[in-house]
Amino acid sequence: MAITTKKILALLEEQADSAHPGVEVLTDYMQLNVSYQSALDEVTTKLKIIDRELSSGTTIGRKNAIHQIQTRIKSLKSIVKKLDKKGLAYSPAIIEQNLADIAGVRVICSYTDDIYLILHSLMQQTDVNVLQIKDYIKQPKPSGYRSLHVIVQIPVFFLEQTRQLKVEIQFRTIAMDYWASLEHGLRYKNNLAHSELTTRLEKAAVQINDLETEMLAIRQQLEHDHPVDM
Ligand code: GTP
Ligand code: MG
Repeated sequence: MAITTKKILALLEEQADSAHPGVEVLTDYMQLNVSYQSALDEVTTKLKIIDRELSSGTTIGRKNAIHQIQTRIKSLKSIVKKLDKKGLAYSPAIIEQNLADIAGVRVICSYTDDIYLILHSLMQQTDVNVLQIKDYIKQPKPSGYRSLHVIVQIPVFFLEQTRQLKVEIQFRTIAMDYWASLEHGLRYKNNLAHSELTTRLEKAAVQINDLETEMLAIRQQLEHDHPVDM
């Protein structure tokens, strides 16, 4: 019988040094890492190509359109927890079918307009299949969280097969990342549910958004006054 998500979580949580969720589950996870790391490489390369062109000064872009690119593969524990939460059984096929954020890329841009420029460019690429867009920039979450979440599916060419793999791309500006990173840290360590602090965090998000809007306005004014220097 296949191992259950509850059993895997119990094994992962055991304190003993020798505790592990079984060779099969670990082997599956290693294979998943090989596949999704390759998908991350493909997407990262696409983003670097766009950024290089934007930074070359020959196009409508500007230097440092992409401030930073971060990538991560979801941990085995997070994968199993998510399966369990969704009431799904454990199997590599179920994971691939149902979890779109095994491979995650975070693209931190300087300004909001660059985010939509890059998204537009990715959408034009014939090998990129955009499966979902959640725009928490235009419609922030009640927490104050802002980012643009996109799920793409891309072909990855392995030795003997081509696989269509999903990658979650989170686009944010430096300002959005500042808020989200600190808020995550605070929320992670403390139970902030419905406290006065939640309201203060929401207000801080609005203030950071105002600041960001002003920085963009300054840049646009400069572009208007000195079009060649930008
Ligand atoms: P998940 O099951 O968490 O993937 O939920 P979902 O599929 O509805 O995705 P959602 O669009 O809510 O995005 C989830 C991811 O966005 C999280 O893993 C975080 O990285 C980020 N995120 C969403 N809401 C918040 C928030 O209020 N604060 C912070 N710091 N990050 C958030
Ligand atoms: Mg998600």
